[in-house]
Amino acid sequence: MSNETRDGTNGTQGPSEPAEHLAVFDTTLRDGEQAPGISLDAAEKLEIAEQLARAGVDYIEAGFPVASQGDFEAVQAIARKVGNQDGAPAICGLSRTQLADVDRCFEAVRDAARARIHVFISTSPQHMEHMLKMNEAQVLAETRAGVSRAREHLEDVEFSPQDATRTPLDFMVEVLAAAVEAGATTLNIPDTVGYGIPWDFGALIQYVRREVAGDYVISTHCHNDLGLATANTLAGVQAGARQVEVCVNGLGERAGNAALEEVVMALVIRPDQFPGVTTSVRTEELARASRLVSRLTGYPVQYNKAVVGRNAFAHESGIHQHGVLADRSTYEIIEAASVGQVGSQIVLGKHSGRHAFADSLAKMGLTIQGDALNQAFARFKELADRKVEITEADLEAIVAEEIGHGLSEGYQLDALEVSGGTVGVPRARVVVSRAGAKQEASAEGNGMIDAACNAIREATGTDAVLIGFNVSSVTGGIDALGDVVVQLESGGFKVSGRGVSTDVVEASARAYLAAVNRVVAVSARAEHRQVEVGP
Ligand code: KIV
Ligand code: ZN
Repeated sequence: MSNETRDGTNGTQGPSEPAEHLAVFDTTLRDGEQAPGISLDAAEKLEIAEQLARAGVDYIEAGFPVASQGDFEAVQAIARKVGNQDGAPAICGLSRTQLADVDRCFEAVRDAARARIHVFISTSPQHMEHMLKMNEAQVLAETRAGVSRAREHLEDVEFSPQDATRTPLDFMVEVLAAAVEAGATTLNIPDTVGYGIPWDFGALIQYVRREVAGDYVISTHCHNDLGLATANTLAGVQAGARQVEVCVNGLGERAGNAALEEVVMALVIRPDQFPGVTTSVRTEELARASRLVSRLTGYPVQYNKAVVGRNAFAHESGIHQHGVLADRSTYEIIEAASVGQVGSQIVLGKHSGRHAFADSLAKMGLTIQGDALNQAFARFKELADRKVEITEADLEAIVAEEIGHGLSEGYQLDALEVSGGTVGVPRARVVVSRAGAKQEASAEGNGMIDAACNAIREATGTDAVLIGFNVSSVTGGIDALGDVVVQLESGGFKVSGRGVSTDVVEASARAYLAAVNRVVAVSARAEHRQVEVGP
């Protein structure tokens, strides 16, 4: 694709435009995890952090350590296992301005080779009046105290005035100046409620750069309530932001955050619009990051999602197909392989052994050991009996499911028997086991899937309401793996579970059981929750 701009100039970096690095700050594990129904445990977070490191992001915001012991331990594990390697991303924890929060955050990230504390406080009239119950002087004092404390621990400190886009400009500038004076090295401008419009948000970034003196990096954090998160982020970059806060698949509170894959690819495809600005992201890892996050969170990726959706490179109409066959550039601006969206390759078959299985996983960057590896291998063998071609996507799906099981030490599905059809009442019998103890139950339902879920509910004694059910296929073909995601609500928590199988009733039962395991884990964690806080 030509880099010539509409005014005829070459927009790529020239001798007068030194390369400028745009830091990619991924907050999938913090803001992304705040999306309703997502509850990742420490090992799942580690798995995602490893993939983010492989993808080359600069910062991983690994969690909010003061929120719970579980969050603290997950951030600490990521700092120790992912953030300690050469060239690893810096590991960041989020903190309120309270000194005890900042200290706790530091404890969680301190073992990373490069660590950051991200301090935030709300600055909009709406948040100050209804949530903080503080006046401007108090917010200023809190900002100074929190940022100074963070600087006592680390040199790398980020500050965010929450709900910046609804904060009066003069007060925002005052708070940001106080943060810089107290030692903040990055100033993040959160569009917390997704209120920004690209040209207005860009102007806000310019305004801050002009009005707040000092040596800092300016950053964007855009929510997607109006579907403008990526556009606003890019407007911020054009206005001089040199850090972008993003989430894989655009996850995050409510409508989510700017999507990592969209922001990165916009910079790659349109360098004319961002002369000299580049990221370190290895774009070939984007699709895998997307699939991994989707599997572990239970959030499906919409088919027509930009860059990573399954239809992003599919051409339906005859004219388009003809054009792409003649020359890809007729209807595609991105090469599928450049974002890791290659046609799924056959990696293994029925006769492949354990060694080849483990080897393929290692090549795909999937680390799995012990019981989870044994279980995944057993699932692979089962699948190989039913499906001729086993692809990378299939392997990822079964491994992700087994990792989920291993971690929660929850129930396993030992047996499932169903009967149904157009005559008679659908029935199911299940046998599940947990820590060696077996439970069996039978139930009826308004279909075989319903009967299987009822039997699982009976066997596990879990009281949960099904609030979401989604079925799709991992690859094409009659023997494709069915991929089922269910969402359950129990005791005020929403959780999701995923299951895969060539049989959609079995996939549904597995998904339901995975969600039940989460209900059990989340309820246990809630009992140990230290304080109830949230950004
Ligand atoms: O949206 C937001 O304001 C946040 C802050 C904590 C940065 O997530
Ligand atoms: Zn946010």
